[in-house]
Parts: sequence; structure tokens; C-alpha cells
Amino acid sequence: MTAIDVVIMAAGKGTRMKSRLPKVLHRLAGRALLHHVMGTAAGLSPRHVVVITGRGATEVEAYCRDEERARATFDVIFVRQEPQLGTGHAMQQAVPVLPDDGITLVLNGDVPLVRPETLRQLVALCADRQLALLTVDTGVDAGAYGRIVRSADSAAAPGDLPVRAIVEAKDATPQQRRLTEWYSGVMAAPTTLLKKYLALLTNDNVQQEFYLTDVVKHAVAAGTPVAALTIADELQVAGINSPLQLAELERAFQLQQARTLMEQGVRLADPARFDLRGALDCAQDVEIDVNCVFEGRVSLGEGVKIGANCVIANAAIAAGAVIHPFTHIEGGSRGAQDQVEVGEGARIGPFARLRPGANLGAQVHIGNFVEVKNATLARGAKANHLAYLGDASVGERVNYGAGSITANYDGANKHRTVIEADVHIGSNCVLVAPVTIGAGGTVGGGSTITKDTPRGALSLARARQVSLPDWQRPAKKK
Ligand code: UD1
Ligand code: CA
Repeated sequence: MTAIDVVIMAAGKGTRMKSRLPKVLHRLAGRALLHHVMGTAAGLSPRHVVVITGRGATEVEAYCRDEERARATFDVIFVRQEPQLGTGHAMQQAVPVLPDDGITLVLNGDVPLVRPETLRQLVALCADRQLALLTVDTGVDAGAYGRIVRSADSAAAPGDLPVRAIVEAKDATPQQRRLTEWYSGVMAAPTTLLKKYLALLTNDNVQQEFYLTDVVKHAVAAGTPVAALTIADELQVAGINSPLQLAELERAFQLQQARTLMEQGVRLADPARFDLRGALDCAQDVEIDVNCVFEGRVSLGEGVKIGANCVIANAAIAAGAVIHPFTHIEGGSRGAQDQVEVGEGARIGPFARLRPGANLGAQVHIGNFVEVKNATLARGAKANHLAYLGDASVGERVNYGAGSITANYDGANKHRTVIEADVHIGSNCVLVAPVTIGAGGTVGGGSTITKDTPRGALSLARARQVSLPDWQRPAKKK
């Protein structure tokens, strides 16, 4: 097997995005375009991954290094392209780092969804002797994409006619503009051949750029065959040049993810109103209402129901739990320590907020406008209205009253509150940490608790009520 060296072109100005952020760092399904492209590259077990940077190079390179560390499957070689004189000029900068004995696979940093199996086919097509282009023919106007020009002087079927050239939309004749087969920005070529044709590029075109796509006409002129792998799946080859294209591809990709989940049996109320920015793992009979957003890693156990308009990140929600509408669950991304866990049969929301380290046992109830952070609630504990539980351990069957809070922060350090099993905390209490409420105890409404309370006791920490029967209301002066 010939070694594959992947080159990702990511130096372009991204002018049409009209953004300060380098184009390849804009996000699709919650991840930078480059994340998708690097993931695809990783799927091919390449010998080298070369990333060509230019515009926003330091930012792009820092991002790639993080990806490299996270994946730990390949080493990235950076090549700077300065100034950016076109895709062919970009590839010329990579020539010195590409060994002659390999196949070079060129990926566009702004074409995020091409699949590894498609690329494997493309590499196989190039067969160590010809150029292989990934193309698509949608039968409609190809917009700003480069047109595939095939020779007409052959008896072959239209899709089998030999490829003569790629002509950029801006340079195309009216007749060429009508061609509906276009170039994806992805090609594979034996590295020695590619280098030979890269050396012949000129910039005598409308944009005065060195086009990588011109290697095709040079190959044809030299008698090197050029093959095309034409696929039907437009999603894989869609390129991102503008905010509109980014949004359109986002919707199309989300619909594809929704369909995959539905094929697994997940019941989405409306696949067009579903967003997954990460990985979602669902057991049987999961129901998800409209407008929910899932981020990071989320798992939903059997029979889980998610109400409308929930945002859920990095969480494990156990079987039978119900998340009512407008709930925000925001687990951290560092794994078990800070993800959110929701136990079997728990009921959360509406309008609840679970933050990193919220760990809720079975049958826990969290109601509206309740915030939980870095706190463990044991089986059957309830906090139903308007409350804050932060840095706390809450025992089984505790009932935590409306408007009560744990005062966990003294202005410098955080402290823990322990509420033992079967405690009843009244409404509007302040539990000043560090403090422990003994098992089975009751705290009267409106209390500010600063000292540990004994088991089973009623604890009150508030002024005694007085009523003055003969008191006169002030009257208005005449
Ligand atoms: C390119 C192709 C076009 C194809 C389309 C597919 C060329 C000349 N045209 O057009 O045929 O249909 O992709 O999406 O190749 N880049 C650099 N340095 C540069 C210029 C660009 O690294 O000097 C990078 C960009 O960051 C981007 C990629 O190359 O990731 C493509 O560049 P872009 O300017 O978007 O090319 P298109 O006009 O889309
Ligand atoms: Ca592009």
C-alpha cells in the first residue's frame, strides 16, 4: 500500500464570510470546520497531515495542535503560505514536505463533511498513476464551483467521457457555466505527478490566482489520465464560503443526524427542529420534543422524555427520567467529574438549570427556577421551586423549600452544605456553608442557618413574630 499524505488547505482569506474569525474555525454542528476535516483525515491513517495556514495562521495552528493532542493519531506539519495567491500557490508551499513515494490527498479546509470511505475510493482510483478528482453532478446550476469539462469527442456515456479541465466559474464561458458537474475541492494524485504539474501553474485568469485546479489541464496535455469519482451525495462535497452556505449546510447536516437517530427508533417530534452538536446516544423509546439542542456527549436512557426547548450538554440521563420544557442542563466536558447525571425516573423542570457536577439520584424532582451546581441529591430528594443548591450533599427524601439557598461562597472560598436524609427545609432559608443539617431535622421558613443542627430537631433562626393590637396607621396630614 502506498502511503497517503493528506494536505489540508486552510490559508485562504475567507473574504466572503466577512468575519474576523478565520473561515476554517467557523463552526458546523458545534465544531470548527477544521475539526470535521481533521477527523476525516484521521480516518485514513495518513502518514503525514500537512496543514497550510496563512490568514489567521497562529489561531488556526493553535486549534490544530489541540486537535492533534485530542486525537493522538497523527502529527501535523504546518506550512505557511504568505501571501495567499490561490489554491495552487498554497499547494506549491507544501511541495518541500511531501515525500515523492506517496499519494497526496488534497482536502479543502472549507469542505467539512466528506467521508473517509469516499476518500479511500478516491485514493484507490488514483491507482498510483493518475489524478483522481471528487466531483458531483446535481443537474442544476453549479454556482461558484469549478466546472468539470469533459471531452466531447468520444463515444462514451456522458459521465465516462475523459476529463479535460476544471474551469473556475469566474473564468468559464457561458457554455461552460451551464455544465452541472462540479469539482469538490478534493483530489488525490501520485505526489511526483502532482509536483510536476504544480510547477507549471500560472496566474493568467480573471482572479490572477494560481489555481490548483489548473493541474488538470497540464496533466491532460502531458498525457496523464485524469479520473473522476462522481458521487450523488451533495452534503459530502458542499463547501462553505458564506454565512448562508454555512447555515444551509448546518440544516442539511442536522436533518441527516435526525434521520439517523429516527432510524434507530428515537421519536423526534420534528426532525427539522432538532440540533445535535456532538454525540447523542439513545436507548429505546426516547421522545424528544421540538427545538432541543444537544451538545458534547449526551446519553438518554430507555423511555426518557425531553420537553420542548431544552438545551442539554454533557449529561447522562437515566431511564424513565422526564425533562420538562425550557430546561438548561450544562454539564462540563471533562467527563464523569463534571458531567450532569440525572437518575432513573427523575423529573426536571420546566425552567430548571443543572450546572456542572449536578448529580441527581433516582426519583429526584427539580422544579421551576431551581439551579443545581456541584451537588449530589440522593434518591427521592425534591427542590420544587425557586431555589439554589451549590456545593451540597443532599440526603434521601429531603424536601428543600421554595426560595431557599445554600450560601456556598464567602467571597474568597467555596464551602459545602450537607443536608442529611429526611430533612425538611422550609421556604426562604439561607444555609450558610460550611454547615450540616442533621438527619430528620426541620428548618423553619425564613431561617438563616449558620451552625450545624442536631438530628430530628426543629431549627429556627429568625426574629420572633410580634403583633401590636393597638397600633395606629399614620394618617395623611391635612
Ligand atoms: C475551490 C476550487 C473550485 C471548487 C471549490 C470547491 C480552486 C481554484 N477552486 O474554489 O474549483 O469547486 O473549491 O469547494 O481551487 N486556500 C488557501 N490559500 C489560498 C486560497 C485558498 O489555503 O491562497 C484554501 C482556503 O482556505 C480554502 C480552500 O483553499 O480552505 C479553497 O479556497 P477557496 O478560495 O474557498 O476556493 P473556492 O473559490 O471555493
Ligand atoms: Ca471554498
